[in-house]
Amino acid sequence: MSHAGAPQEMSARVKGPLTGEAHVPGDKSISHRSLILGAMAVGKTTITGLLEGEDVLDTAKAMRAFGAEVSRDADGVWSVHGVGTGGFAEPDRVIDCGNSGTGVRLVMGAVATCPISVTFTGDASLCSRPMARVTDPLALFGTQAVGRSGGRLPMTLVGAADPVPVRYVVPVPSAQVKSAVLLAGLNAPGRTVVIEKEATRDHTERMLAGFGAEISTEVTEEGRVITLTGQPELKPQAIVVPRDPSSAAFPVCAALIVPGSDVLVPNIGLNPTRAGLFETLREMGADLTYENPREEGGEPVADLRAKYSPDMQGISVPPERAASMIDEYPILSVVAANASGRTEMRGVAELRVKESDRIEAMATGLLANGVSVEAGDDWWIVEGAGPGSVAGGATVETHLDHRIAMSFLCLSLASQDPVVVDDAGPIATSFPIFRNLMEALGATFQTES
Ligand code: S3P
Repeated sequence: MSHAGAPQEMSARVKGPLTGEAHVPGDKSISHRSLILGAMAVGKTTITGLLEGEDVLDTAKAMRAFGAEVSRDADGVWSVHGVGTGGFAEPDRVIDCGNSGTGVRLVMGAVATCPISVTFTGDASLCSRPMARVTDPLALFGTQAVGRSGGRLPMTLVGAADPVPVRYVVPVPSAQVKSAVLLAGLNAPGRTVVIEKEATRDHTERMLAGFGAEISTEVTEEGRVITLTGQPELKPQAIVVPRDPSSAAFPVCAALIVPGSDVLVPNIGLNPTRAGLFETLREMGADLTYENPREEGGEPVADLRAKYSPDMQGISVPPERAASMIDEYPILSVVAANASGRTEMRGVAELRVKESDRIEAMATGLLANGVSVEAGDDWWIVEGAGPGSVAGGATVETHLDHRIAMSFLCLSLASQDPVVVDDAGPIATSFPIFRNLMEALGATFQTES
């Protein structure tokens, strides 16, 4: 599913401070995994707090197409009757993953060791993104893939009828690749080993253990060595999805740059493999506190309080932190533009293969709105001129990328003239209540068409 209709131009302003509580939706990464693992378990998994964004709804549809029963019982409450590891049936239609790289790559992994053929497609953004990073390791199990040139969607996977376990060193820091290999390994006999040199989000490992799989992680000289024993019977779970730190980033960062703001964002998942942005903001001098830290459903959680922070300074973000905040660089650059001095972001080549080329999209949009930016292959630098310094006034292209759209709408809240985004439609992929939530805090939105 792609968000339908004509592009929706939009800008955002404030009349005063942003104040109040912002209840952001469930975590996107955990929501996809809940549906997929629920569909691979035997029996009924219940999921509370599922993100009902387009990306996740596309994964729910895919699970139905493979024979799992997936139903929505109430707002955010879903149940999945799984068909067991290796139990997926061949779908009678093309699987459309919309805008979601996570959806398509994880689902490819989950079907790769089932004896079925599946054709995948997506929207223009997803059809331009690299899939070989997933189909290369899946080929080691015996899976065949035929797609367009450059390993792009649409693509057909022929699952391995007689899969063998694999040992794979992930060549790029990607939780999607790691997870695809682990999900494929579930239906291969013996032990599948995945090694990552840099730690990426570990929701798949945590959830596999929760579903009863035998999985262990060891930190060695090679990196994180994850060993999974194949063909377990996954036991259905009652999952409570924590709220998404990547969505929380928008109201948090908006509060830091809008004068007088004080916003509480409750129940945010703060898994260390995801919380790099908040650490970075605190190092910049943000007034950002973790209240009531606790553990829920195996994940660390806290309430975030963000207050207007006029004294933030630019910093060099440690490259080894990149994986833990990879989706947050666009909104960090908006904060950096309102801080004083240089913010250097290095070791971020992966930003070029997200829903858009995020270095290009942010650098172009920031420059057009009067911010000084320099960019190279795997780095970019934003020269902040302090609170309220951004001129604004330009329209930016969002390239079907929800996070680019939300980042520039947040910039617009603190710029001298409004910043206009050419299409706010993709926000529905990850954060369908973004506009309502920001309005409740005090923002106003103008739609231009
Ligand atoms: C995700 C992993 C990240 C991230 C994406 C969600 C996941 O991608 O950008 O939004 O849920 O595994 P990579 O693992 O490719 O970096």
